[in-house]
Amino acid sequence: MSVIKSVFPTTLKDGRTSDLVTLKNKNGMTLEAITYGCRVTKLLVPDKNGKLGDVILGHKTLAEYQKDYQGAIVGRIGNRIANAEFSIAGTTYKLAKNNGENSLHGGPTGFSHQIFDITEINDSEEPSVTFSYFSEDGHEGFPGNMTFNVTYKLTNDNEWKIKYEIKSDKETIVNPTQHAYFNLSGLHNQNVHDHYLRIDAEEFTVSDEKLIPTGELAKTLNTDLDFTAERLIGDCIAGNHQHLKSCNGYDINFCVKGNGLREIAELSHPDSGRRMKVYTDMPGVQLYTFNQDKAGINKDGSEMVMHGAACLETQFYPNSVNTPSFPFETLKPNETFISETIYKFITD
Ligand code: BGC
Repeated sequence: MSVIKSVFPTTLKDGRTSDLVTLKNKNGMTLEAITYGCRVTKLLVPDKNGKLGDVILGHKTLAEYQKDYQGAIVGRIGNRIANAEFSIAGTTYKLAKNNGENSLHGGPTGFSHQIFDITEINDSEEPSVTFSYFSEDGHEGFPGNMTFNVTYKLTNDNEWKIKYEIKSDKETIVNPTQHAYFNLSGLHNQNVHDHYLRIDAEEFTVSDEKLIPTGELAKTLNTDLDFTAERLIGDCIAGNHQHLKSCNGYDINFCVKGNGLREIAELSHPDSGRRMKVYTDMPGVQLYTFNQDKAGINKDGSEMVMHGAACLETQFYPNSVNTPSFPFETLKPNETFISETIYKFITD
């Protein structure tokens, strides 16, 4: 219904500014996104009484966003690459080690920390914005000049649609994801223990203590990782599963069932009546429950709390490039990587 372009208040540490685009649909659902990392800085969705609330954590200043991945598009490779290296066709590529010995979220100057161009704005019934970034051959060690486009669209069914269209002039790898920190209560200094979650996965990728998959898939069924039926997060997050103990919560990739664009998960908050359905064409989703205390200051000035959000990061499994049994393909020149994820909001 409307698109407004402005500038996000405050600057990056080097003084650069970031443009801000506000999309609004006919129901008042509103998405604000900035060109710095395509970060979604606000997402207003109605509760059961029609009252809008901001369901995404974030900050007041760009300098704070520079320290984390909140609301960002993460890439070239979301999640981890073991030993920060991989090979394609006999050539080994080395990346920065920014997570112990491993590479995380595309490296220190990955997409989440770059300023994108706005290349298309569609001010129609269902407004959208396309952000683009040209990542040079060798950027963070990855091969190929890459043209990366991501489009955010709001539909009148209260869907936030994310579409990636990515090209490279050399064979390369890519695994983009959206790193929104959701709290459907609209309150940012409360944990998500009162949220229910369903994930359509009977298996997860077993990982070592550094969160690198061993290659083994294990069953979720009848464990604290079993979300095949809707379940209260507070009832299982303090469970005895070794994974929960070592991560202080969930930080794990689920192997979601099915192929193609399909519903794979649902997060809901009974008090507000807000419910978010997740659709993707990817084989995995990383559930990260923000297992950090006092990680920063919220937009409203309050302190961020342990388990203050749930991230549902749709993606290929972590370290897929080095794990031949995982579903993954390289991106070849003359091909376009196209992928979609949808977060759809309804109320009870
Ligand atoms: C990772 C976490 C990491 C977080 C940072 C998640 O995708 O799995 O281990 O701490 O991102 O924002």
